[in-house]
Amino acid sequence: MGNHSKFIPVYVWEAPVRIWHWVMVLAMVALCVTGYLIGAPLASVGGETSDRGLFGDIRFVHFAAGYLFAVMFLMRVIWAFIGNRFAREIFTMPVRMFSRPFWSALGDQGKYYLFMRRESVPYQGHNPLAMTAMFFMYVLGTVFMIITGFALYGEGTGMGSWSYTLFSSWALPLLGYSQNVHTLHHLGMWYLIIFAIVHMYMAVREDIFTDETVVSTMINGWRVAKK
Ligand code: HEM
Ligand code: HEM
Repeated sequence: MGNHSKFIPVYVWEAPVRIWHWVMVLAMVALCVTGYLIGAPLASVGGETSDRGLFGDIRFVHFAAGYLFAVMFLMRVIWAFIGNRFAREIFTMPVRMFSRPFWSALGDQGKYYLFMRRESVPYQGHNPLAMTAMFFMYVLGTVFMIITGFALYGEGTGMGSWSYTLFSSWALPLLGYSQNVHTLHHLGMWYLIIFAIVHMYMAVREDIFTDETVVSTMINGWRVAKK
């Protein structure tokens, strides 16, 4: 944190965070497209027999991307312990809820986005509003998608499989079995899509209207003053 004219360049996002971010984005695009098609299948009856396996291919891509998404998230959690302090922000945000300065900074950022405040405060890591959305929407949303995803996956692999034992065994009865879990998993997709749309808009907007780099920070790791 500093003032505009003397913002010292800072190395914010380390390579593992940057790689995780972009691989995770690709996995999520694949999950949303194939997930949507699982929920609203294409007409598959009729046509050439060689096309009949399409739904199976769609599900295969979904499960492969699902594994990738889950493994990347696990690695990101591990990196929160190993990495720099910025690598922890999206996970430790709830702890900050107990501090007064956090709430006033959150209020200021909100007013700035609502055009009620002209200047934004520069942050080395995430601003308080971004951090809050990243915890409540991204982190919790992701945990929910992994639990419900593997709970549904375990229905296919069956009792005794690791995903059944680890997820289906408790998550299916808790959340109301197959039909309900499909619906919740589907709604979870829209929760993450809403986050992603607002997040991309904010990242580009901040990059244009503030004096420090934003988008390139997730590419080369550095936050620097633009002037
Ligand atoms: C960002 C993450 C994810 C998104 C956006 C997503 C999206 C979706 C959607 C929209 C559906 C269709 C639900 C319906 O309407 O019935 C679905 C089904 C499913 N997803 Fe995901 N998913 C994600 C992560 C995962 C993960 C991590 C797994 C674990 C392997 C997974 C496994 C499944 C399974 C097993 C089904 C049911 C397939 C079937 O009934 O044929 N998903 N997903
Ligand atoms: C599926 C879509 C996306 C999701 C779910 C997503 C999620 C996230 C998350 C969770 C973080 C926090 C990183 C951390 O602290 O560990 C982040 C940071 C960031 N994302 Fe994304 N992202 C998506 C797409 C994009 C796109 C397309 C861009 C490019 C415009 C982008 C630009 C950034 C930037 C610049 C940051 C760092 C912001 C800062 O420096 O304060 N993201 N993203």
